[in-house]
Amino acid sequence: MNFDLSALRQEFPFFSAHPEWIYLDNAATLHKPQAVFDAMNEFYRSQNSNVHRSAHGLSQQATTAFETARTTVAQFLNARFSHEIIWTSGTTAGFNQLVFGLMGPVLQSGDRVLISSMEHHANIVPWHIHALPFGVELDVVPLTADHRFDMAAFEELLQLKPKVVSISHVSNALGHIQQVADIVRLAKAAGAIVVLDGAQGIVWQRIDVQALDVDFYLFSGHKLYGPTGIGVLYGKTRYLALLRPLLGGGEMIKTVSFTQSSWNDLPYRLEAGTPNIAAAVGLGAAILWLQQQDLTAFQQHKTALVQRFYDGCKQIPLLDLLSGPTTNAGIVALNLKNEHPADLATLLDQQNIAVRAGTHCAMPLFNTMNVKGSVRFSFACYNSFDEVDRTLAALTTAVELLSE
Ligand SMILES: Cc1ncc(COP(=O)(O)O)c(C=O)c1O
Repeated sequence: MNFDLSALRQEFPFFSAHPEWIYLDNAATLHKPQAVFDAMNEFYRSQNSNVHRSAHGLSQQATTAFETARTTVAQFLNARFSHEIIWTSGTTAGFNQLVFGLMGPVLQSGDRVLISSMEHHANIVPWHIHALPFGVELDVVPLTADHRFDMAAFEELLQLKPKVVSISHVSNALGHIQQVADIVRLAKAAGAIVVLDGAQGIVWQRIDVQALDVDFYLFSGHKLYGPTGIGVLYGKTRYLALLRPLLGGGEMIKTVSFTQSSWNDLPYRLEAGTPNIAAAVGLGAAILWLQQQDLTAFQQHKTALVQRFYDGCKQIPLLDLLSGPTTNAGIVALNLKNEHPADLATLLDQQNIAVRAGTHCAMPLFNTMNVKGSVRFSFACYNSFDEVDRTLAALTTAVELLSE
């Protein structure tokens, strides 16, 4: 490992507050470095004001902090313009805005949208609410036998000429990394607008939205070492300009009368109401922190953690492994034969090992795999090999108990 793990862990106050926990629920949310708390504290203590509204200096300071965070995100993603970064409250909110916004200007009755079997509900249910009732049809890329994105089937489904292709960068349930460069290239060649759900992908690798040529990329701050309540909908200007706002209210307008309103320019047009200013500042701080880290070393470390855990699980009888260790962003999903995943997770919880059990907001994926759910172990840069070994020991004991 070419970084100092114990120095890294010291930057995360959670670990000194709770040394007893092994936290392997990182796909649900990550812990935050002190730098994020400091930035948010500082904002509330010395700048707290609303943004874009008031004439006073404090509001101007708050606006500068807020807009600087937007620029930090734009530079992090290599977006062409800061106005291509729309603040949302998270990936879910971003998808609801996106799907609602596409309906009419881009999508009409009879049009097709292509998603995959691996999608999180955030990239399924908004289509059900905002698009299917208006005649849009949803096609689904199937899984290969080893629970991967079926590229051959994808290419065939592109022949149906979907107007939008919307795929997760990394599966939140299995950890498998999609070949996003190929997906974007093929989908664009077929004439589709391409959306990537980056909720899990953003922390795995540095994204260059221009090099990738993706039209929309969404993620949540809390899965990038930032706070909850903030997320990003990145879009190319020409597509964002088409989106109808989902939320109406203050700041998103240019003029309002009792009978009509006209809308503001990007990005404000899609950001009605008082935004989560402190959280935006916190996400900016998380990204600045991350830019000082060695992301390649983090990737290699997570890959090694997954491999070690996976190899250990292979030695434990009666475990069904749903994820493979290759091209995996840090997640191992498994089941104990004939047992409910919650039983295993409860026994691990009793030993202060935090994992998640269930269908992980990806119910259709589990139906496709024909399994009821899984126990999900998700690793982050701050996890150690020692934690992997202690988890394997606890898992062995739990499996013995449940198999008696
Ligand atoms: C792949 C994926 N998409 C979307 C989401 C939704 O993110 P949020 O709950 O932060 O809106 C998640 C959260 O787990 C996710 O993993």
